[in-house]
Amino acid sequence: MPLTVPNTAPFSGPQKMWLKGYLDALNSALTPSSIGNAVTAQAPAVSLPITILWGSQTGNSEMLGKKLSKALATKGHSTTLRNMADVTPADLSATSHLLIITSTYGDGEPPDNAAALHAALHAVDAPSLTSLSYSVLALGDSSYPDYCKCGSDFDQRLSCLGARRMTPIVECDVDYDKPFATWISQVERALSIAAA
Ligand SMILES: Cc1cc2nc3c(=O)[nH]c(=O)nc-3n(C[C@H](O)[C@H](O)[C@H](O)COP(=O)(O)O)c2cc1C
Repeated sequence: MPLTVPNTAPFSGPQKMWLKGYLDALNSALTPSSIGNAVTAQAPAVSLPITILWGSQTGNSEMLGKKLSKALATKGHSTTLRNMADVTPADLSATSHLLIITSTYGDGEPPDNAAALHAALHAVDAPSLTSLSYSVLALGDSSYPDYCKCGSDFDQRLSCLGARRMTPIVECDVDYDKPFATWISQVERALSIAAA
């Protein structure tokens, strides 16, 4: 029997929508033989190694990164979740599939843990990233003039460096659950095409 969200579940509308999207993905990943036994993931034709980077000041992007990592692992992908502070442009040269979740802080600035990578990628000696496919989820607050600027900076700069944008950037206002669910489905679709 598929997993569903009961009408009486103590969640808000957007939370229920996110949970429903997550459970739909989980239901489609379950093979008939796995139901009732251990939960096993339906492996895609090719399991892609996917790096997920989070840039976060107060934890929202990091938390969404963990959820994304679990959702993609459920689909059979091999995910590595990393703090942006631990990553250099050279690391990205050796990466095939990259998902970025980052907030914007200060006056349109990167969160502290994203500042070094943001600066290094915008330097004149940043490497070419033609082997990289990527997508960006940008968290922000539309009451700020530079709405989601850090995510947008990464999205544009990676493209300038030759990387391939798998899906358009998704910008999230303070209520990020619904756009996050939308972005996950777009990313999953793009990855399953890439893995086919
Ligand atoms: C002091 C402060 C400055 C912020 N500056 C911006 C900004 O310039 N642009 C924007 O879109 N959001 C801005 N935000 C909103 C955050 O990006 C948003 O709350 C986000 O969800 C935080 O995610 P995080 O916990 O991953 O850092 C700011 C928030 C705070 C508290």
